[in-house]
Amino acid sequence: MAASAILRRMSRRIVVIGAGQAAAQCIDALRRNGFDGSITLLGSEPQLPYQRPPLSKKYLAGSLEPDRLLLKHRPFYDEHQIVLHLGTRAMAVDRAGQTVKDAEGRSHPYDALVLATGSRARRLAVPGAELGGVHYLRSLDDADALRSAALRGQRALIIGGGYIGLEAAATLRAMNLAVTVLETTTRLMSRVVCAPVSEFYRQEHQRHGVSVVLNAQLTELVSNEHGMVAAARCADGREYPADLVLVGIGVQAEDQLARDAGLDCDNGIRVDQYCRSSDPRVLAIGDCCNFEVAHYGLQVRLESVDNAFEQGTTAALQLLGTPVAHDKVPWFWSDQYEHKMLIVGLSQQHDQLVLRGDPASGAFSACYLRGGELIAIDTVNQARDQMAARRMIAARARPDPARLADPTIALKDC
Ligand code: APR
Repeated sequence: MAASAILRRMSRRIVVIGAGQAAAQCIDALRRNGFDGSITLLGSEPQLPYQRPPLSKKYLAGSLEPDRLLLKHRPFYDEHQIVLHLGTRAMAVDRAGQTVKDAEGRSHPYDALVLATGSRARRLAVPGAELGGVHYLRSLDDADALRSAALRGQRALIIGGGYIGLEAAATLRAMNLAVTVLETTTRLMSRVVCAPVSEFYRQEHQRHGVSVVLNAQLTELVSNEHGMVAAARCADGREYPADLVLVGIGVQAEDQLARDAGLDCDNGIRVDQYCRSSDPRVLAIGDCCNFEVAHYGLQVRLESVDNAFEQGTTAALQLLGTPVAHDKVPWFWSDQYEHKMLIVGLSQQHDQLVLRGDPASGAFSACYLRGGELIAIDTVNQARDQMAARRMIAARARPDPARLADPTIALKDC
């Protein structure tokens, strides 16, 4: 019998581990599509599933109440009879016995298991990294701790010029802190955007008073007499004083539980387009998994709300016995100051880059082509391009590069 048929016939008890965006979406899609078996949700954080993106933006700024972060409010879980175990860590999965053991020693039997364990912040590994005053920004509790430090402090030092570091830099500047960003590579957000976009953001951060240090080789965090972080020291001997340090140097898949259970993992839990792991009764969704994005034939781990949402839905449909392959073109966003950046597609394999518009104008796009095909786009304050690009990338459009470079021609007409 096909694996999907086994799941459909047998799945009366679904256990979901991890209570983030992917889990919330999966549960919602299960109930919305008529699943009437039991659903148990185990989450290590005490809160109901919430949105993380505002943690580095409005929530850190103090302009969003915690309640507004929740993806669903308590009545949703009550009405849909979701058995919640929050503040509870899953410790082991017994695949032969089809049970999950939690930190309180309880066993949760399952017919199908969904791993939605997400990712964790990569830890800094230099002397002084464990000092008081060194923050990370992944959870609501992290954001609360960082905000209270920011309200007391005057100088923030940020390690890592990626999404987290730069969004927090913009927010902390608006809170009137002096902000320095130390980035180890030659440019900002180098993992995700091209050089002209990096340079646009470097200039914008400088314009807002952030001191951006590129090629920074951090060697040590130095403490004051109270054992709190007081400065960062770099290989070139320069020191950067700080009252608080935020580390944003990337994330790692939270896949230990899956590894311990013997599931195939490689930089995340290996799943197929239906979110099936190497065990047909175990699905995995969101930041914790590694899969092939069909459109590109690329094996990746995606860190995004969009992917959590798509895979949450895909897993639910799989469990319901109405499988639909996940083959959408991924997208990502970042808000820094008044600028809205939207990235559509995966640019890794591009062989040509075409800029649309002048970055100095504050609104432009970077188009990535491979063999003439549009494969990805970074748009900065250009929502119009982003909408057209989604359709064009999915359709494997081959725009004329000369027309593409002319921002007076609508992207869809290129
Ligand atoms: N010192 C300085 N910079 C470093 C160091 C270091 N020791 N190690 C890594 N970096 C830099 C990287 O070069 C990169 O520019 O830190 C940056 C990390 O950027 P991201 O990979 O975007 O990671 P982060 O900003 O932590 O965001 C992680 O959280 O916002 C979510 O899902 C989103 O993917 C994002 C994730």
